[in-house]
Parts: sequence; structure tokens; C-alpha cells
Amino acid sequence: MRIFSGIQPTGRKHLGNFIGAIEQYVALQDRGEAIYCIVDLHATTVPYEPAVLRERLYDTAAILLAAGLDAERCIFFRQGDVPEHTELTWLLSSVTAFGDLNRMHQFKDKAGAQRDLVSASLFTYPTLMAADVLAYRAQQVPVGDDQRQHIELMRDIAERFNARFAAEAAGAAAPLVVPEGVYREVGARIMDLQEPTKKMSTTGGTEQGTVLVLDEPKTIEKKFKRAVTDSGSEIRHDRAEKPGVANLIEILAAVRDTSFAAVEADFADARYGDFKVAVAEAVIERLTPVQERYAELRPDEAALEAILAAGAEKARTIAADTVADVRQLMGVGPNP
Ligand code: TYM
Repeated sequence: MRIFSGIQPTGRKHLGNFIGAIEQYVALQDRGEAIYCIVDLHATTVPYEPAVLRERLYDTAAILLAAGLDAERCIFFRQGDVPEHTELTWLLSSVTAFGDLNRMHQFKDKAGAQRDLVSASLFTYPTLMAADVLAYRAQQVPVGDDQRQHIELMRDIAERFNARFAAEAAGAAAPLVVPEGVYREVGARIMDLQEPTKKMSTTGGTEQGTVLVLDEPKTIEKKFKRAVTDSGSEIRHDRAEKPGVANLIEILAAVRDTSFAAVEADFADARYGDFKVAVAEAVIERLTPVQERYAELRPDEAALEAILAAGAEKARTIAADTVADVRQLMGVGPNP
């Protein structure tokens, strides 16, 4: 079983990234051949500062390693170090429907937020994401719920490629693998604490409603204490009627690795205020060791570079093989 996922080095990693994605990456390392990538090329699709991008890349690498990613048990690398991703993006663009890209929610949201240039790369972002996964012929892609549309598109691209170029292909070249998204049952969509009908996000959310992986314990406590609930008093998981409370239940259930029902039962007689403090304490307890490890890892950029470089070398062997097959099937370049 091969597993692939990617994470952007933009913004600051928050509790949604941590619960929805990072914890899954760590758990899946032992269930297959896991490949994880920090997608710096995706981060260039919106306005950014080159020097800041590098800093954020190290921040993200150190957070993932601090959370438990182990370069001995997975392939961990930086997208920009493996040029096969960009070549495959171009090749796959020929089986990517313009109409599909035009329907992507993320493009509409992000394009709408730009004051100046809306880049062509923001539009073709999902094709690069498809290339990331298809280059490794991964079967499983652990992601949060907000990536569903992107996962559907990469499946369509793989299917269209296979139908168009690999169906009757003779020779050694293998078709692409159609991947599946892997979503956590609890925690695939963590919401903003201030606006619990919106997903937690450093770009679209509120500052007070976004808990950062590197927030001080005091800040985390304050954010949870101020979390929006409702005028009732019942601690019940009802997303439609009680989105704020439901989100807190979801966070606690994910951190404790238990069910909504178990959390509801535990807090059946509790008041909102006490419940919020309990959620804050559980999150602080979960994040403190990650923050401590981060503080050790982050300063040594040379060590982080060495890990990413070793990962890129391994990744490249796999991706180059797929790109060679795709070129052959598409009739690009000389006959091998
Ligand atoms: P990114 O960097 O925005 O987010 C990284 C991961 O965090 C998940 N996530 C959430 N999960 C639960 N609740 C939330 N509020 C929340 N916010 C974010 C995301 O779903 C994601 O899994 N396009 C991708 C990066 C990417 C990628 C890939 C992913 C590039 N290539 C190939 C998988 C495979 C993105 O922007 O993730």
C-alpha cells in the first residue's frame, strides 16, 4: 500500500491541519509506504515573499517531524526538489478538463480574495496536486474534508489518462493508479472557534478562532474560553443546531481518539464554561510535547535540509519511473 500527502508551507499550521491531516500522516507511516511532501510550488500560486516562504518551509518541516513524522519510516521531502512534479503537471494538463478546473471551489474562493493578479498557476493548482499523487502511484491520500473536490479531480485525471493512453498500451509502461482520499471519521473538518460554520484556516478564518500548533498554552486557553457556543446549555453533537458546541466535541473526541457519544456522556452534566476549559486542557496536553520537540528541531536548518534532501532523492527515483512511463504512453520524446 502506498500513501501520499502534501501540506503547504504557507501561513501557520493550525489545529485543523494537525487533527485533520498531520495526525493521520503519523499514524499511516506504519500502515504502508508513506510519502509526505511540503508543497512549496503550490505556495507560489498566491502573492508571497520568497524569503518568508523558506522560513515557513522550515517551520512546517520541523512541525511535522516534531509531531512524529520519522524520516526512517517515511519519505519526507520538498516538492520543489523533485522536478518530475512539474513535468508531470504539464503532461497531465492534456487530460485535465478546463471546465473541471473552472468549477473548483478553492480557485473561486482564492481568486476572489486577490486584489491584484489572479495567477494562471492558481487555476492549474489542482493539476499539480494530481501530479504530486499520481507520480507515486499512491493508493491512499490522507487529507481533511476540504480537499474532497481536489481528490475527485485527480481520480478523474488518472482515469482519463488511463482510458486515453494506457488502455491498449503494449510494452512495459504501466497505467496510473486511481487514488482514494482517506478522511478521519472524527476531525476531518475542524471549524473556526469564533465562526463555527467556517472551517478553521489561517487565510479565511478569524485570528481568535484559529488555534495554532505553536500557540502558547495561555493563548490556547483564551481562544477556547472565548469560543462561540449558543444560548442553550446542553453538550450535544448537533452541527446544524449547535455548530460551536459540536466543533468543541469534535476537537475533544479527536484529541482523545474517542467518539462524540463518549464525550457527550462525560460532559452530560457539565456547563459550557467547564467544558471549554476541558477541551483547552486536552489540546494543550496534546500540543505541548510537539512544541517542545519543535523548539529543539527548528533552529538546525542544516539538519532539516539534510532530511529533505535525502527524502527528495528517494522520491525522485519513484517519480522519474512514472514520468518515463507517462512520456512513453503519450508518445513524447524518443521511443525508449
Ligand atoms: P493545506 O496545506 O491547506 O492543508 C494541509 C492539510 O490539512 C487539512 N486541513 C484541515 N483538516 C481539518 N480541518 C480543517 N479546518 C483543515 N484545514 C486544513 C487539509 O485538508 C490538508 O489535508 N492542496 C493541499 C496540499 C496538497 C496536497 C497534495 C494534499 C498539495 N498536493 C497532494 C494531498 C495530496 C492543501 O492546500 O493543503
